[in-house]
Amino acid sequence: MSRNRFYLTTPIYYVNGSPHLGHAYTSTAADVLARFKRLDAFDVLFLTGTDEHGQKVEAAARDAETDPQNFVDQVAADFADMARRMNISYDDFVRTTQPRHKEAAQALWRKLDEAGMIYLGAYEGYYAVRDEAFYDESELTKRPDGTLVATASGAPVQKVSEPSYFFKLSAFQDRLLEFYEAHPDFIAPTAKRNEILSFVRGGLNDLSISRTKFTWGIPVPGDEQHVMYVWLDALVNYLTATGYPDAAAPRAAYWPADLHLVGKEIIRFHAVYWPAFLMAAGLPLPKRVFSHGWWTVEGEKMSKSTGNFIDVRPLVSTFGLDQVRFFLLREVPFGNDGDFSRRALIARVNAELANGLGNLAQRTLSFIAKNAGGVVPARGALREADHALLDGAASLPEKVRAAINRLAFHEALEEVWKVIRAADAYIDHQAPWTLKKTDPERMLTVLYVLASVLRTVAVLLQPFMPDSMSKLLDQLGVAPEARQIAALEAPLVENAPLPAPVGLFPRIIEAA
Ligand code: MSP
Repeated sequence: MSRNRFYLTTPIYYVNGSPHLGHAYTSTAADVLARFKRLDAFDVLFLTGTDEHGQKVEAAARDAETDPQNFVDQVAADFADMARRMNISYDDFVRTTQPRHKEAAQALWRKLDEAGMIYLGAYEGYYAVRDEAFYDESELTKRPDGTLVATASGAPVQKVSEPSYFFKLSAFQDRLLEFYEAHPDFIAPTAKRNEILSFVRGGLNDLSISRTKFTWGIPVPGDEQHVMYVWLDALVNYLTATGYPDAAAPRAAYWPADLHLVGKEIIRFHAVYWPAFLMAAGLPLPKRVFSHGWWTVEGEKMSKSTGNFIDVRPLVSTFGLDQVRFFLLREVPFGNDGDFSRRALIARVNAELANGLGNLAQRTLSFIAKNAGGVVPARGALREADHALLDGAASLPEKVRAAINRLAFHEALEEVWKVIRAADAYIDHQAPWTLKKTDPERMLTVLYVLASVLRTVAVLLQPFMPDSMSKLLDQLGVAPEARQIAALEAPLVENAPLPAPVGLFPRIIEAA
């Protein structure tokens, strides 16, 4: 029997500029979930990629004085590099300029057309290139200097008037509302769900799905004067990776996706347009769309012009990869907005990694190396304090699993840190350094309990900090094939020889 499948996606990133903290954030969160599911024995398909067509990318290529294909090849490679540096364990990287994607996008277009959901008309209205979005007059604000901007995003809009194909989105209002009703978990968090519900209840206009003012896009089948609207093109990427339109493709069974993880500004495309396209094409709908918040940097919106643009790669070089991954998911409740500052990162890493987990591991492992013969100590009879700590650790997998399934990464980490703090209190209380003289047998039991709790912590933290936790598990003598969540049901193997301990998370000392 095949294992449970789990298909999750990041948005595909626009290649008009270099990758930054915001992109790294979405990808890291998705990566933690993908790794957790693999450890929890799911058969995972984790997709990321780049969104390479449209007016915005075409303009960026022009600014760079190079042809669009050459430009997107370079920027897409930079996004792949960022993913590698952040240790993003994607299974596939889709680029919308790939032939397989063009085929999928055109196939979906034909399906919508055959279903009678597309008609030719003319678009008269506003378009924001920065958002690659059409706006209604009611969605705009005039700035004091006279420029018209989209109220939600602040992006400047242009008036456009061009022939365009339309998708009959208006016909889907009731079906969408029924779907949201029947699937209360489809959109999360709840505040976003409410926002989408009221948007759809307000009525839907038909959606312009082709452009004629530029050529950098996928040609509309049968009418090459038009290129597909970049959002229709882009959303199809989630099908492309499953081999669409080939129903017999090896990955076809991964559809529908279990989760589309997206930032809050693109929820409407994923929770309204995308399900409507899929309904029109007779395809099953994804199970969930989860929207996360935005990072500001030192209190300001991140932008190249204000000089606070954060590329995560230099941060990784300075502070360490797992330190950065941990900070991103620990600092802010997932779904909320947050603020990035070096000060906050250093404070978190020092308090929770260097002094917290790192210190606990170092104290335990170096004590074992010196006083327990460098093997996993053999345990004797357990006392109440031992049971209390071990029971706390035994209940962790379920708590962490529940939190991660809700994408409450910060809660998952908090549950683990409760056990780390309890283990710190335990070591102080049991004082193995005193037991060494008074009761060496009891000392071994205390060390066993600590090593066992550290194993649970390390196994569960692997998705967040893969490299450091793999080192910690090496130091605990845990075989590579015994690092799955299910393996925690078996006790830590006694007498396994342990390598010499090494520090995991050095304290960061930085002049302000
Ligand atoms: N190309 C579209 C997505 C198409 S998906 C079919 C797009 N690309 S994007 O490059 O602009 O952004 C993608 C992701 O980066 C979003 O999830 C967005 O929320 C995230 N972030 C961009 N800036 C961000 C912050 N400052 N903070 C957190 N995440 C942000 O939209």
